[in-house]
Amino acid sequence: MDARVKGAEVAAGFELGAWCAERLARVERALDQWLPADAPAGLGEAMRYAVLDGGKRLRPLLVMAASEAVRGHEEAALRAGCAVELIHAYSLVHDDMPCMDNDVLRRGKPTVHVRFGQATALLAGDALQALAFEFLTPEPDDAGGVPQAAQARLCALLARAAGHAGMAGGQAIDLAAVGRTLTEDELRRMHRLKTGALLQASVMMGVACGNATPDAAAALADYGRAVGLAFQVVDDILDVTADSATLGKTPGKDAAQDKPTYISLLGLERARGYARELLEQARGALVASGLEDTRALRGLAELVVDREH
Ligand code: IPE
Ligand code: IPE
Ligand code: MG
Ligand code: MG
Ligand code: MG
Repeated sequence: MDARVKGAEVAAGFELGAWCAERLARVERALDQWLPADAPAGLGEAMRYAVLDGGKRLRPLLVMAASEAVRGHEEAALRAGCAVELIHAYSLVHDDMPCMDNDVLRRGKPTVHVRFGQATALLAGDALQALAFEFLTPEPDDAGGVPQAAQARLCALLARAAGHAGMAGGQAIDLAAVGRTLTEDELRRMHRLKTGALLQASVMMGVACGNATPDAAAALADYGRAVGLAFQVVDDILDVTADSATLGKTPGKDAAQDKPTYISLLGLERARGYARELLEQARGALVASGLEDTRALRGLAELVVDREH
């Protein structure tokens, strides 16, 4: 049977909404349980405010979908998903600060520095970053049987995607690019680093929770790369097309701050076309993976491109 037809048949009867709801409930419960309420001097309150009660949780969903596709360790995937979400939440807290994008609205609420002050926001980001690695390396009694080799691999994947060769490096390029015109290659690199790296790492952390063949792992890396870039292309699009109530953040910021984006480079229609092209690449990678059930991964890629916020 043609692989695409087979894929479509398998997709029939799969409910992405129900699949997500079950995993989201587990993620929310774990985050609520593991985020400290008692960190000193209001730090815990700021950390919880930054993470809980908002956010699409796309990164944990990608971790869990990839892990399930390779029959991964469930507790490892839950911990990995929550850890990436903490790094993501910290990146948003810092991204919103006056020294970066200077935003006052995030996830429909005042940003962390507006609510708690800049110093506490800075520290909340720092502490969330450290806590992500604590999630990945629980005390032996508490580890739910996550093997230590898997813990180390998950830490390595997350550290690389968060640091100078990933999110932080991409954010540095973003700030240095204000007011400049980037070439398509430069813009792609910036987006791949600042946003794509953590999304691709989410997929690869899911893979690290199981036992994929090298070919399947390489195909899922291609999937993660395409979804990661598509995600930021759509973020650029939504900045010009969505309203504040839907977006939960202030729209029109990229143009106001003279940031190079896929809209400034290609215009709206070609940017939309590029996002769809990346979706096709992601779908193709799933077919190439040869994995039996990639319905959730496929649905999440579609969600990334078709989302309204
Ligand atoms: C927004 O990410 C910031 C980017 C990396 C582009 P999300 O759109 O995933 O934000 P939340 O987590 O749903 O708030
Ligand atoms: C943010 O990109 C990327 C990271 C937080 C790493 P943006 O600055 O475009 O994200 P939003 O639009 O503020 O969510
Ligand atoms: Mg930014
Ligand atoms: Mg921003
Ligand atoms: Mg944006």
